[in-house]
Amino acid sequence: MTQQVQLQIEGDSRSFTLAVGQSLLEAAMTQGLALDHACGGVCACSTCHVKIRSGLDCFSEPSEDELDQLDEARDTGLESRLGCQARLLRQPAGGHVAITIPRWNVNAVREGH
Ligand code: FES
Repeated sequence: MTQQVQLQIEGDSRSFTLAVGQSLLEAAMTQGLALDHACGGVCACSTCHVKIRSGLDCFSEPSEDELDQLDEARDTGLESRLGCQARLLRQPAGGHVAITIPRWNVNAVREGH
């Protein structure tokens, strides 16, 4: 049976889930969570940039390609990942994953830039 963990989005009170083996973008797309993905999830843009505040160590390691794309993203930090590439590998100790979608990403989606 697939293990599910709670996925918390900063500033969004709705509850989402993330399955072990699933990427953050896959979880977003199947649950109606607005996460931009201009390239369709093939690691060729950085519009799916998120910051993983909790559970980061339970995700797949970033590839060289992902790190190259993150170099192009704004407002990155140590917790930054591409939502289409960050895949949950195991259940976090706290039982949940918490992410922040950078405000400029959200604005880009809402304003259609
Ligand atoms: S959707 Fe383009 S890199 Fe993730």
